Amino acid sequence: MNLVEKDKNYVWHPFTQALNAADPIPITSAKGAWLFDEDGKKYLDANSSWWTINHGHAHPYIAKAIHEQFLKMDHVIFAGATHPKAVETAERIVNSLPDGYQKVFFSDNGSTSVEVGIKMIYQYWHNKGIAKKRFLAIEGAYHGDTFGAMSVGQRGYFNKPFEHLFFDVDFIPFPTAENGAEVLSKMEELFATNDFAGFIFEPLVQGAAGMRIYDSSWLNSAVALAKKYNVLTIADEVMTGFYRTGTMFAINQISETADFVCMSKGVTGGVMPVGLTVTTQKVFDAFLSEDTSKALLHGHSFTGNPLSCAAICASLDLFEQEDTINSINRIANAHQDFLKKHGANPIFKKARALGTILSLEVEVGEESSYFSAIRLEAYNFFLENNLLMRPLGNVIFINPPYCTTNEELNHAYDKVMEFLTNMK
Ligand SMILES: Cc1ncc(COP(=O)(O)O)c(C=O)c1O
Repeated sequence: MNLVEKDKNYVWHPFTQALNAADPIPITSAKGAWLFDEDGKKYLDANSSWWTINHGHAHPYIAKAIHEQFLKMDHVIFAGATHPKAVETAERIVNSLPDGYQKVFFSDNGSTSVEVGIKMIYQYWHNKGIAKKRFLAIEGAYHGDTFGAMSVGQRGYFNKPFEHLFFDVDFIPFPTAENGAEVLSKMEELFATNDFAGFIFEPLVQGAAGMRIYDSSWLNSAVALAKKYNVLTIADEVMTGFYRTGTMFAINQISETADFVCMSKGVTGGVMPVGLTVTTQKVFDAFLSEDTSKALLHGHSFTGNPLSCAAICASLDLFEQEDTINSINRIANAHQDFLKKHGANPIFKKARALGTILSLEVEVGEESSYFSAIRLEAYNFFLENNLLMRPLGNVIFINPPYCTTNEELNHAYDKVMEFLTNMK
């Protein structure tokens, strides 16, 4: 049996209908911005492997840090023990955020980083003896696939079988230039009921909904409003963190501070599974009590894993290098140049960029949808042309590793335009 046959025998893939899915691509190595399959065919990883890889694959500096940590200490229980790389991670993450954050809770992935934030919020109010039951989220939101994260995500196709198990969440419309003020007054109406424990949002851009970009001043007002009504806020930076939006975090582009920041994906350079939930001393203090049940009784076997922490610290080192920031700015500029050249083309319903994310909503003559027929057609065309890109329905987007060269970017831009120009 070859790799793909064996895979089909034993593996259950995520987000995949196995009955009619195409064979998986047998990727056997990766370097920089490229993935290589077992026949040596190469693919530009233009979506950074689910938006994770930011310094490029197999980065020698991160590899060395993980290797050295492995030889020193591979893993240790994180309740009742600590280790240097976890402490270094927590201190550096806190210092990389705007003022006001103090405590870092470790978990394994983006969903758990959100799940922990939601649990912290509900328990915060519980510990204070204040009854607040509801959450607020934005239509189209995606915060992950665990139950809490699903509850605050867009309801529908992806989570229908579980819907009866979700807690109470109100969804406000996605904010646009036209409806922004109206959405804020709707929020205020809801918050005035005093029943809202928390408000969660993907800052500046909703990823899974189709890289939908929205205005920082709207977000600033929304967070200020939550503060006014004592609603705790979660900035889900799982996708946007680590310069995807041009700044270290998307929340660097607003002046209000959220009570929680969730991170994952790019936090290790995208190479190890980690979730971080960062919050304030005020939140932490609400869990201090002689009564042990007021502690956050939550954890995972791999909480604070030293290899993951070593990767985080190495990735943060790389972000301190001027070259990395120059590359981020170079990619952001290239996206802007693309927009200058093609942004007004009527094949696009909306063409936008934010930092290193280029988001191209293709005009398909009907409402945009994840299930748009062009998704698969585009995906296959890109594969044939050495590009691994998974469009979100009729939204084609490029968010490449920061080591991607202009020549590689141009290849991606050219192929996108070739596909769209020849599209029936
Ligand atoms: C904004 C956001 N939050 C949470 C998640 C869930 O992260 P994970 O897939 O690591 O569970 C994602 C994943 O795409 C995301 O984009």
